[in-house]
Amino acid sequence: KEIFLKDYKLPDYYFDTVDLKFSLGEEKTIVSSKITVFPRVEGSSPPLVLDGHDLKLISVKVNSEELKDKDFHVDSRHLTISSPPTGTFSLEIVTEIYPQKNTSLEGLYKSSGNFCTQCEAEGFRKITFYQDRPDIMAKYSCWVEGDKSLYPVLLSNGNLIEQGDLEGGKHFALWEDPFKKPCYLFALVAGQLESRDDIFVTRSGRKVSLRIWTPAQDLPKTAHAMFALKAAMKWDEDVFGLEYDLDLFNIVAVPDFDMGAMENKSLNIFNSKLVLASPETASDADYAAILGVIGHEYFHNWTGNRVTCRDWFQLSLKEGLTVFRDQEFSSDMGSRTVKRIADVSRLRNYQFPQDAGPMAHPVRPHSYIKMDNFYTVTVYEKGAEVVRMYKTLMGSQGFRKGMNLYFKRHDGQAVTCEDFFAAMRDANDADFANFLQWYSQAGTPLVKVTSSYNAEARTFSLKFSQEVPPTPGQPVKEPMFIPVALGLLDSAGKDMPLFSVYHDGILKSITSNNQPVYSTVLRVTKKEEEFVFPNIIEQPVPSILRGYSAPIRFESDLSESDLFFLLAHDSDEFNRWEAGQILARKLMLSLVADFQQKKPLALNPKFVHGLRSILCDSSLDKEFIAKAITLPGEGEIMDMMEVADPDAVHAVRSFMRKQIAAELKAEFLTTVENNRSSEEYVFNHPNMARRALKNVALAYLASLEDEEITKLELHEYRTATNMTEQFAALAAIAHNPGKMRDEVLADFYNKWQHDFLVVNKWFALQAMSDIPGNVENVRNLFNHPAFDLRNPNNVYSLIGGFCGSPVNFHAKDGSGYQFLGEMVVQLDKINPRVASRRVSAFSRWRRYDETRQTLAKAQLEMIMSTNGLSENVFEIASKSLAA
Ligand code: ARG
Ligand code: ZN
Repeated sequence: KEIFLKDYKLPDYYFDTVDLKFSLGEEKTIVSSKITVFPRVEGSSPPLVLDGHDLKLISVKVNSEELKDKDFHVDSRHLTISSPPTGTFSLEIVTEIYPQKNTSLEGLYKSSGNFCTQCEAEGFRKITFYQDRPDIMAKYSCWVEGDKSLYPVLLSNGNLIEQGDLEGGKHFALWEDPFKKPCYLFALVAGQLESRDDIFVTRSGRKVSLRIWTPAQDLPKTAHAMFALKAAMKWDEDVFGLEYDLDLFNIVAVPDFDMGAMENKSLNIFNSKLVLASPETASDADYAAILGVIGHEYFHNWTGNRVTCRDWFQLSLKEGLTVFRDQEFSSDMGSRTVKRIADVSRLRNYQFPQDAGPMAHPVRPHSYIKMDNFYTVTVYEKGAEVVRMYKTLMGSQGFRKGMNLYFKRHDGQAVTCEDFFAAMRDANDADFANFLQWYSQAGTPLVKVTSSYNAEARTFSLKFSQEVPPTPGQPVKEPMFIPVALGLLDSAGKDMPLFSVYHDGILKSITSNNQPVYSTVLRVTKKEEEFVFPNIIEQPVPSILRGYSAPIRFESDLSESDLFFLLAHDSDEFNRWEAGQILARKLMLSLVADFQQKKPLALNPKFVHGLRSILCDSSLDKEFIAKAITLPGEGEIMDMMEVADPDAVHAVRSFMRKQIAAELKAEFLTTVENNRSSEEYVFNHPNMARRALKNVALAYLASLEDEEITKLELHEYRTATNMTEQFAALAAIAHNPGKMRDEVLADFYNKWQHDFLVVNKWFALQAMSDIPGNVENVRNLFNHPAFDLRNPNNVYSLIGGFCGSPVNFHAKDGSGYQFLGEMVVQLDKINPRVASRRVSAFSRWRRYDETRQTLAKAQLEMIMSTNGLSENVFEIASKSLAA
């Protein structure tokens, strides 16, 4: 059943207090809830409809009286109380559930013998009957009891009020959360866990106990997570003035978790891959992801928990904002430019394709069948870009003012995206024109600009035009409000001073404190629009969309030499990188055309020269160099083609990598040599940057089949003292098929087979391989003893990894499609949410040639015809076929 934003209705009843009691057992768990209910409209008593799924109802009482059969109705999704008393009443419900059988990892389930919960978005209804919607905010207490030796640790939200022993080897804990919350933030954990303990003193002097819980043997690997948590708490005070509001903050790491992590009030639950790290077992990328996600979940305490969403269509209200906050946190902890580059690449590689496909939806969707399908890169990452645009328009201080007003107005409430917009606008007295379109229109706007210089009049003009492509359900679009940050470079490569600009024929000053600016933000709001800069004394090279100031596709009339100029001189480092990427994309597309016409491939020497000067420029940040010499991904190039051709794109990218490696071999070898270090592993920017550069160089070299290089790779593999370098060497060796590859892969497995997270890396590396016919290897790994289809990390590594190799997933014989089709059907019976996320690999099937279309479509149809298909998979598969 499809649910629509426009159908939102206020609830008929509110809940004031909720007292829960869990009696945990091996066969069954008994959940008792006592809720104080009151009607929204005094004196009215319409039927009370509660959500519930996979529950066995034991009893219902209203005001302590057991209800008779005729007074309530239960179906597979609801419990309806036909005529509740008028006024406030108490409702007591007892249900029985079976967490040990719950493979959906939603509601209460078991992971490695421990109990844990995941309630967002609609999992609380698998625990007890409830109005499972975020605008029902109540104060909770939670009594947990269970076997003391099996479950020595019993956790829930808020403060621990009491604990003690019970008869029969059992014990209990009573928790109370003083803050009102929606049920999606409820959490419970019980099991054999130990904690790393620390303390954070807030700036107003509150002493907060911090605990990170894992099985005992993993405790040493929680040091980085604790560092990240304390850094995040400090950062939120410094940047937003936001303090933690309880005396206890718990994080629990579990190996079976559907997504990354969950911000349950004072009891965050994490996928263990986003908590556990040691230099030997986790890479720099893992360390960075842990920093970002620990920050993300912590930041939700204010943006998500204290102020939450009115309904699930507003998800980006908390997610877009919190992603933006975690991006800023990571930027401040490392390199801002490099973080921006990584975030923009992610948007281009994952969100652009979604926005151009059958699942395209606005940042605030208009409808859904299963909300779980809308935890997307659009809601999260594009949503974060929308938040970033407020900051671009108003500056850090203006943004902070808006945040302050948002909390002042809405603390303790469940609100909408308009409420956030209004706080930003009102706090700054701003005119945001048609900015709200960003929440309602799907599709990536295409903005084009042409420039002209009038030497006589000394004016420089920029003419913008924009178009938002049609998306399912939205054939016609309005123009959007696009903030365009820009500067003009003089012939020496310096930013020119800017004083004013003509817009609609009106001259507007853009000085700041009567001083010229060197970068400004234009407000592009119409389909076509011109801006003219006066007093420009020489022909400039414009640097447009600095810092990627809007989530758009952007085309300019800059020449190749302009782009090389920007690559060499732009003061905006993001745009320096971008200039190189534009050059690379153009080159790749033209080589793809050559390849398709069976012309010989040749690499533009100017491009190689540009790469060499970046690589050898010792004044540049090493991580920036690593990013700047990395070619755009295959997906990004396919996304720009009329008909996506995975074979041609792969051939061209491989050709280019090999050619670059051959021409810059000496430089790459020196780079590897100069960036070795025998020092102990440290997670900080200079060290990560050094390793990043070394590993990019090694990866280039790996494309040369050359004995000297093989020796080097083996040397790096054997001498590495951290996972970042060891894994990069392993990947380099695994690049080329052969005996060496098999041996080293086996060696790596033997070394790390006891470590679940490292084994997942090992699965992923092999699954992602572009080696021809890799589907057979992946099928073998599927039967590997370490592989378990019930574990989302295993699925993500092996099946997700496989779809990350376009040549193999889109193999012309359909073998890749067939593999994924089979996997989806099997997975759907275990965990619909995990299955559904994998189906999206099919969703852009119309982008390929006819043969591939037929094959992919057949798999989608096969999936659709499966008996007992989940709504999750149904939604993605049916929309993919329809669009
Ligand atoms: N709210 C979480 C976060 O972004 C993600 C939701 C988890 N959902 C899930 N189905 N596991 O931080
Ligand atoms: Zn989040």
